[in-house]
Amino acid sequence: MNASAHDLAAQLPPEFTLGVATAAFQIEGALDEDGRGPSGWDVFAATPGSIVNDHSPAIACDHYHRMPEDVALMKELGIDSYRFSLSWPRIQPGGSGPVNPKGLDFYDRLIDLLLANGISPMATLYHWDTPLELDEAGGWMNRDTAYRLGEFAAIAAAAYGDRVARWVTINEPATVSANGYMLGVHSPGEAHMLKALPSVHHQLLGHGLAMQALRAAKVPGEIGLTNVYSPMVPASGNPLDKVSAGLMDMAQNRLYADPVLLGKYPDAIRAATFFSSFSPSGEDMELISQPLDFYGLNYYMPTRVAAGPGEGTVPKGMAEAMGNDLNGGGSGTPFHIQSFPDTEITAYGWPIKPDYMAVALAEMAERYPDLPPVYITEGGASFEDLEIHDADGRLIVPDERRVRYLAEHIGAAIEATSPGGSAESIELRGYYVWSLLDNFEWSAGYKQQFGLIHVDRDTMARTPKASFYWLRELMAARKQRAATGGEPVPAAGGGAESAREAANVEGTAGGAAPDAAGTAAG
Ligand code: BGC
Repeated sequence: MNASAHDLAAQLPPEFTLGVATAAFQIEGALDEDGRGPSGWDVFAATPGSIVNDHSPAIACDHYHRMPEDVALMKELGIDSYRFSLSWPRIQPGGSGPVNPKGLDFYDRLIDLLLANGISPMATLYHWDTPLELDEAGGWMNRDTAYRLGEFAAIAAAAYGDRVARWVTINEPATVSANGYMLGVHSPGEAHMLKALPSVHHQLLGHGLAMQALRAAKVPGEIGLTNVYSPMVPASGNPLDKVSAGLMDMAQNRLYADPVLLGKYPDAIRAATFFSSFSPSGEDMELISQPLDFYGLNYYMPTRVAAGPGEGTVPKGMAEAMGNDLNGGGSGTPFHIQSFPDTEITAYGWPIKPDYMAVALAEMAERYPDLPPVYITEGGASFEDLEIHDADGRLIVPDERRVRYLAEHIGAAIEATSPGGSAESIELRGYYVWSLLDNFEWSAGYKQQFGLIHVDRDTMARTPKASFYWLRELMAARKQRAATGGEPVPAAGGGAESAREAANVEGTAGGAAPDAAGTAAG
């Protein structure tokens, strides 16, 4: 384990940012305190049956009361940057109108404490906790919510603009639309299926308006948004599987990235809108495609897609882990997600494929020639961690699989974007580990744990896991190298082709990897 931290330290480019990420609703708790207003997620989570074991976010990690302790842990880690989200209902309880001074004050203290400890703040404006009043007025199906996000951005800029190093306007609009408005397995629990398209456009417009507000306030920090990206891999060379993977690619990746980076929706979406009333104006598209300072990319896994309904829309274990029966009545779906053969999976059932981290970056580079610098704004894995007690009763969490996941994914991202790598044109600026703490994992409650730090659900005691110590060692090794003038080690591989060959990955819908026909396994 130590060796890999040192090897990785040698590969890190000198200015590379390493950080950890969280989101307000997943860690803060204190939902009814100090003037916070309710969010749609408060109501959704309180509805019996929506969250695994009906777990409650009411306390989460109690971060609202333990923030200084958590910043001290980050200081101990030695990370460069912390990505957190501003709770919209804590700062502006009704989603419009008056602000809550105590809410503003919480993030003021957080930001100051981070800076005092040499940690640069990356603030996400919207990480899913929509103020309830806005959800009741239609949430993201209502265009007005986009304007409200713009207004919230102006409030945040005035309060923290002088100190925030990086702004993320919205986090993973794809997950909000797919889970919240198409399938109804996240707040606000609506299952509009294809009729959910306005929620996509309104979130992207909200990003544009938030960006406009931040620019108008002349914040010195960099501004971007975060999209999740999953390379779509046809399950076989069968043309129907390829078409299915292409459709998934469009629905989950391109639908959210093309408008921002190319200024237009994918052709297939525009063709579909022929049958609906959805037709975005040129003005909207200009707002959505304003130049970004950086692009935030969350990578967790690739997705293997096959034609036909299969046994369910997603593999059984995955559907159960999410806490929702995604497969209920799903026999009518035109395609489905399959497991990768012979592949290790996380507790969520997600395939562990670090080589596809490189594919994700290569596809992004290929599709978007004007891609701005990239931060991997999230990456990590949930496992059922082993919990051991030593002779003195102290908890030890040897989460070696998480260490391996992080080391391999960070390594793959750096290698792919180094000279000769498959995505060498990308300026990769950093990687944020999801997540600092075991936290409230949305519909999976506390069942899926991604933390570098274990949180005791009864006492809220924090116990750093092996992965915490590994990251601490990585940071220390990098610092040591910088002090002794250690030269970064060049990435392995002799050119884009050999990097792909070395990765030996199946072809994807994006075409950055070898064609599926040759390598498909099923
Ligand atoms: C989200 C996080 C979430 C993580 C793991 C991302 O989709 O931004 O809030 O906890 O993935 O599921």
